[in-house]
Amino acid sequence: MAKLTLKERFKKSTSGSGESAKAGKFATSIFRPGSPFRKGYTDSPRNRSYVVMNNVLYHLHPVKVKRHGVRLSYTLCLGGMSFFLFIVLTITGIWLMFYFRPTEMAYADIQALQTSVAFGSLVRNMHRWGAHLMVLVVFLHMSRVFYHGAYKAPREFNWVIGVILLFLTLFLSFTGYLLPWDQLAIWAVTVGGNMASYTPVFGAQIKFGLFAGLEATTATLLRFYVLHVLFFPFIIVIFMAIHFWRVRKDGGISGPL
Ligand code: HEM
Repeated sequence: MAKLTLKERFKKSTSGSGESAKAGKFATSIFRPGSPFRKGYTDSPRNRSYVVMNNVLYHLHPVKVKRHGVRLSYTLCLGGMSFFLFIVLTITGIWLMFYFRPTEMAYADIQALQTSVAFGSLVRNMHRWGAHLMVLVVFLHMSRVFYHGAYKAPREFNWVIGVILLFLTLFLSFTGYLLPWDQLAIWAVTVGGNMASYTPVFGAQIKFGLFAGLEATTATLLRFYVLHVLFFPFIIVIFMAIHFWRVRKDGGISGPL
């Protein structure tokens, strides 16, 4: 085979050749140039440095940043604020775990936390208001992305990851709402669980799985606690990592309309 110039090789490796073309649009939207999964990548010193510079793990900061990408008026830093709020919620949440038991003592623990623990009220309110704020900020971030048309190619895969992040944020909010074990929490979750029971076909099973029974009891509290402090945070961290990695892989922040 005739030797290709670097320009031709680059063109070939970015034009959807080889496996990725066969795999179709869906796979190419996930595995873009620079990905080790992509075929047609020749081993040369230039391509090696290209791989290193484009790999988030080898080179955390992007080599190039577009001017509008760092302009506050473009992103409003809403994605960054969503992440910041998540960090605040993780730190305050771990602190709250020292004083909270997901048992019939839950309500008393919250009362004790508010009245007899140093900075208890402050940290609890930071966690509560931070959670409300995160739901709002994530929604605003999604609206900003939509307004700028940043969901379009090549960012369609990251939009899907974003939708999953939105749902995970809502699930975290919903499961945390029961934990104070007061009247507001119990009845709010009863309403939520009953709404879930109207899901077609599996409604009754979903409600049973959610409540660990037929109504909100301390078994429900334990279930929501585990989902809130372990399961959903674990999943959301994985999806956030994919989300940030994709921003880099899609060529940084989108351009203005
Ligand atoms: C836990 C929730 C989320 C976090 C922490 C987060 C974080 C971020 C960050 C830090 C950025 C970089 C640019 C910016 O700050 O705007 C970004 C970009 C982006 N996010 Fe999110 N995000 C979240 C939820 C969502 C949701 C719900 C969607 C859409 C359904 C979404 C879709 C996108 C897209 C498409 C981009 C690329 C935007 C562009 O290039 O202009 N994200 N995200």
